Amino acid sequence: MAAIVTDPPYGIAYQTGRRKVMSTPDMLANDSEAPLWSVPLMYEAVADGGALYLCTRFDVAPIWQQALTNTGATLKTPIVWDKGNWTSGDLTGDYANQCELILFAHKGRHTLKDGRPSNLWRVPRDPAGEHPTPKPVALMSRCIHNSVNKGGVVLDPFMGSGSTGVAAIREGCHFIGIELEPKYFDISCRRIEAEDNQLSIFDFI
Ligand SMILES: C[S@@+](CC[C@H](N)C(=O)[O-])C[C@H]1O[C@@H](n2cnc3c(N)ncnc32)[C@H](O)[C@@H]1O
Repeated sequence: MAAIVTDPPYGIAYQTGRRKVMSTPDMLANDSEAPLWSVPLMYEAVADGGALYLCTRFDVAPIWQQALTNTGATLKTPIVWDKGNWTSGDLTGDYANQCELILFAHKGRHTLKDGRPSNLWRVPRDPAGEHPTPKPVALMSRCIHNSVNKGGVVLDPFMGSGSTGVAAIREGCHFIGIELEPKYFDISCRRIEAEDNQLSIFDFI
């Protein structure tokens, strides 16, 4: 695997105790506890010289960073994703947060393809789709573009609605995705197939 580009459940409810686990069907599977068990498996799956990009939030970032370091991954400068707008929260006693983090680590020696890009990425959210916490395709594309050559294989073990898969196809890469919820797995397959078909049509024009 040339890279793992993933957006696991943040485990926010477990970490902060502020968010109650809801019984709505759109609640994320396994969001009550950060799936740190997956980190050694991801590290094992990535090739020597490959990259790991892992989306997270400031309050749970330290446990993910620790898990990455424990596996032997080399932790580098995290990327700050500026979403362009902020989420709700404490309206008078806190700053309005409009950023999330993408942890960047690698196995062995990894070089970025285009020199030394800034770690501040302003990428607007995609229009609401069929997943409660989608990531913009452009955000995942940027990770892949910087670290994976065309024809390389990208793995997302927490695929959700398949944004990483769509990004991988756009970047000319192969993609392997894993998703627990059949509903989101089906959405991913549909989106990735549509992207692949669209590219194939353009190939012939
Ligand atoms: C934060 S979401 C990913 C959203 C994705 N980036 C997108 O743009 O749609 C995390 C996903 O991991 C899935 N998930 C949770 N536990 C999992 C597990 N053990 N194996 C595979 N997928 C899992 C959840 O169902 C959820 O869709």
